[in-house]
Amino acid sequence: MDEVTFKSNTVLSDVHLYTPNQRHFMVRLNSMGQPVFLTQFRLLWNRDAQTDSGAEGGDPGGACTPESPPQGTGSPRSLPGSCSSDAAGPEGTGVQLDEDGDLDVVRRPRAASDPDAPGPPRDKVHPVILRQEGDDVLDDEAQGSRPQDVIRIEHTMATPLEDVGKQVWRGALLLADYILSQPALFQGRTVLELGAGMGLVSIVAATVARTVYCTDVGTDLLAMCQRNTTLNSHLAGPGGGVVKVRALDWLDADLCTAVSPTDPAASFSWSEADVADLYEHTTVLLAAEVFYDDDLTDALFRTLSGLALKLKNACTAVLSVEKRLNFTLRHLDVTCEAYDHFRSSLRRLETLADGPLRFVVEPVEASFPQRLVYERIRQLELWKVLVERVT
Ligand SMILES: C[S@@+](CC[C@H](N)C(=O)[O-])C[C@H]1O[C@@H](n2cnc3c(N)ncnc32)[C@H](O)[C@@H]1O
Repeated sequence: MDEVTFKSNTVLSDVHLYTPNQRHFMVRLNSMGQPVFLTQFRLLWNRDAQTDSGAEGGDPGGACTPESPPQGTGSPRSLPGSCSSDAAGPEGTGVQLDEDGDLDVVRRPRAASDPDAPGPPRDKVHPVILRQEGDDVLDDEAQGSRPQDVIRIEHTMATPLEDVGKQVWRGALLLADYILSQPALFQGRTVLELGAGMGLVSIVAATVARTVYCTDVGTDLLAMCQRNTTLNSHLAGPGGGVVKVRALDWLDADLCTAVSPTDPAASFSWSEADVADLYEHTTVLLAAEVFYDDDLTDALFRTLSGLALKLKNACTAVLSVEKRLNFTLRHLDVTCEAYDHFRSSLRRLETLADGPLRFVVEPVEASFPQRLVYERIRQLELWKVLVERVT
C-alpha cells in the first residue's frame, strides 16, 4: 500500500495529519482488520533530557517527532487535532528554545494552508509498511533518545466518528503537559480517566500517580489501549504507576452497573478490589477531547457527578477541550455548538445548589511548559472542576 485516501466520512486527528510521512509505521492490523500505526511521542522531561538526546538548541523532537510542516491542504475535518508543525524551526528542522529553555513557538509557515502549495494533498498519507511486529520500530532519531523520553502509541490513522478514540487528539497532549507540570496534584494519587482512547494521558499520569484507571468503551479499542500501556510500562513512576484499563460507558444509565465487579473472564471488567480502591482513593478525574457530541457530553457530566457522589474524598476533574469552529448551513455562520454545550454544562454544574456536592469551575491558563510538541492553539482549553461535599 503506497497511499491511503481518506473517505469523506472519516476524521483524521491533526496529531497524525502533521506527522511526517516517513514516521507512519504501520505495524499490524487490529482485531477489526484496521491498519495500526505507531507514533513516537518524545518527552522533554527537562533540559538535561534534551541534551542527552542530542537535541540541544536544535531538535529535541516532541509529539510525533515533527519535522517540516505538512504541504498541501484539503477540506477541514470535523475533529481536527494537531501535531506541532508550529514548533518546528524556521527551516522545519526542529524546536527553537529561548535562553532559559522555554519553547519558542513559531507560527506555522503560510505554505501549510496554501492551497497551491506543492506536495501531496492533505487528505492523503503515504504510510511506510515495512515493519514486522516485534521489530524495533524506533526510528533513528528516537533511537538516540533514552527510553524514558519516548512514549510509543499505536493507533489508527483515520476513522469514522464512532472510532475517534483510536486516534490521539491534541487535547490529550495538552492534558499530558498539564500533568507533567503539576506533579504534586498527581503524586501517589489514584486517578480515573474517562474516554481515554489510546491511553496517552493515563500513561503520562502513571509517571507520577500510584494507580490510574484508564477507561473507555469497545473491546477492540480497549485492547489497543491496553497494548499501549504495556508498551510504555517502563515509564511508570517509582511510586507504583499502575495503569488499569477498564470498560466504563457513560451511557450506562446506572453507574453501579457501569463500574461494578463483573465476570472476571469478561474483557476489561472491574474486580471488587478495583471498585473499592476507586471509590476509596480516587482524587483526580481526567478527560481529554470528549466534548464533541451533546448527548455524550451530557452523559459524561452525569457520570462525573455520579462518580463524585460515590468517591470518599473531594476530587478535582481536569478536562481538555478544543473549541472547534464550523460553518453551519443552519446558522449560515461559523459556530462552535459542541463547545458551547460543554460550557453551558459547566455553568449548570456550578449552579447546582441543592445537591450534596459543590462544584467550582476554573479555567486553567495554558501557560505551563510544553513537554510534548504540538500546536498549542488558542482554541485548546483546559478546565478544572473542584468537587466538594457540602457539609
Ligand atoms: C475524541 S476521542 C478522545 C480520545 C482521547 N481522550 C484523546 O484525547 O486522544 C473521544 C473518546 O471518548 C470515548 N467515548 C465516546 N463515547 C463514550 C461512552 N459512551 N463511554 C465512554 N467513552 C466514550 C471514545 O471511545 C473516545 O475514546
